[in-house]
Amino acid sequence: MKARINGVELAYGDRGTGTPVVFIHGFPLNRRMWEPQVEALSDRFRIITVDLRGHGESEAPLWHYSIDQFADDVNGLLDHLSVQQAVMVGLSMGGYVLFTFYRKYTGKVRAMVLTDTRAQADTEEVRAGRFNMAQAAYAKGTGPILEAMLPKLLSPTSRETRADLVERVTSMVTSMQLSGIVGDLIAMAERADAVPVLKEITCPTLVLVGELDPATPPEEVRGIAEGIRGARFEVIPGAAHLPNLEQPEAFNRALVSFLDALG
Ligand code: MLT
Repeated sequence: MKARINGVELAYGDRGTGTPVVFIHGFPLNRRMWEPQVEALSDRFRIITVDLRGHGESEAPLWHYSIDQFADDVNGLLDHLSVQQAVMVGLSMGGYVLFTFYRKYTGKVRAMVLTDTRAQADTEEVRAGRFNMAQAAYAKGTGPILEAMLPKLLSPTSRETRADLVERVTSMVTSMQLSGIVGDLIAMAERADAVPVLKEITCPTLVLVGELDPATPPEEVRGIAEGIRGARFEVIPGAAHLPNLEQPEAFNRALVSFLDALG
């Protein structure tokens, strides 16, 4: 389905009934990364997935990308769908969006699931790396992005033995347009530090991370849970940066147990 939100056509999925649960994908992916959750949970919950601008089947304009803009787009979609409050799930860059969404639209967040993400802003070194990535994409397309991201996204075992997963992730990355890739990289490099937001969070929060995540390692992600009053923290064994795809049963179990506890 598609809707024009903030001047841009956004693609989204909306399946099931019950408590709305909104899933926000990471970089450089799209809403298809949440297929195992849509399949497993939409018989009990209203599962909403969105392709952020620049991703999947959404438009990828040259202008304008920022984490604030992504949060405004998600808010516009919720308004379009008449969703007043939802459980929000964000992975990695989706988590950056979620911190901002919470700051701007606090009352719309019933509860929050932050997975494989980071609260701190980029260091100078990380920013320089994003600039180099944008230059590489500009010169050579999605090839260098895939090469840089695949070893972070999937564990060595998955890369060696799960051709289906490698193909799934590859097709999401290589379908991205240059405007979306560069837009994301600038948005992430310029994002605000979300550490001060942590102590403002009062809704029920679950923090998840893949045991083998090299991009946002468990010891770092644990710090997010420690910064949020009452947050639950869980490590998903045998997964890297995309535990929802690599270990969907364990991920869904943690998620459903959290959703059930909300009542
Ligand atoms: C993501 O998965 O969204 C990215 O790894 C986030 C980032 O590059 O900071």
